[in-house]
Amino acid sequence: LKHFLTIEGLSKSLLTEILDTAESFAGVSEHQVKKVPLLRGKTIVNLFFENSTRTRTTFELAATRLSADVINMNIATSATSKGESLLDTIRNLESMFVDMFVVRHALSGAAHFIAQQTAPHISVINAGDGQHAHPTQAMLDMFTIRQLKPDFSSLRVAIIGDILHSRVARSEIQALNTLGAAEVRVIAPKTLLPAHVESLGVSVSHNLTEGLKDIDVVMMLRLQKERMSSALLPSESEYFKCFGLTEEKLKIAKPDAIVMHPGPINRGVEIDSKVADGPQSVILKQVSNGIAVRMAVMAMAMQTAAPAPGRSGGIHT
Ligand code: CP
Repeated sequence: LKHFLTIEGLSKSLLTEILDTAESFAGVSEHQVKKVPLLRGKTIVNLFFENSTRTRTTFELAATRLSADVINMNIATSATSKGESLLDTIRNLESMFVDMFVVRHALSGAAHFIAQQTAPHISVINAGDGQHAHPTQAMLDMFTIRQLKPDFSSLRVAIIGDILHSRVARSEIQALNTLGAAEVRVIAPKTLLPAHVESLGVSVSHNLTEGLKDIDVVMMLRLQKERMSSALLPSESEYFKCFGLTEEKLKIAKPDAIVMHPGPINRGVEIDSKVADGPQSVILKQVSNGIAVRMAVMAMAMQTAAPAPGRSGGIHT
């Protein structure tokens, strides 16, 4: 696990190891994530070319809990605004004795590109690339599910909304199938589904009230307006009427179903506030779990990476 770029192709045992490692970092409650010296002397750079609240902050908290030094690059005020290329930005940061890049970028493949180009001792973690992948989000969601419903083989999971533009959906589908979920069902209008979506290993419904039947885990997604042309954009009120999750519609799922959402949520568009803030919602638990899961991914990646040339791994002087 030198780099963590995608869930695709990873084994069930590796995903389980990430979840188990995260569990070892999580305390008896989310408020007691342990601080450990595992990455003391390591420097981690958060490179967020796209905005973020949850992912960037929990990566920073996770790195701090691992005792690493963390730099949050402010892309808006960096020299990229003067025309510096992504590769030149990376080369310059590498020269500052960096050990890991955490990358979010609007272009699918950006994290892979950096991983290919960067020095051999540097790990790259994908914090979301375009419509492609958001692997740590998928892992923190698997961690949250496992806490509440430990037997994946009995679970029917519905992923609802804008599957077409969602990197989260792709990574969730891969993780759920790898961990052996009984069924992954996507529920969306045809216009918000990728072509040949069944080939991803899912069943498909275009009707929320039919699709929620027998579901244990309800995962809501927001409409990714920033990735849609205005011609494709559905009316929000029409969308809510057909695909918005209300208390009434949630009753169709199993009575003990949990409601998830990677955030940010758009209240009254894909989810009603009564559900988002209701007793079945685990949305904020997902956020808390991001710390321990991102600690696990960073610690495992650093353990696999080659030692930095000319450095013993101690604290930089
Ligand atoms: N789930 C998620 O990626 O949220 P942020 O965009 O706030 O990081």
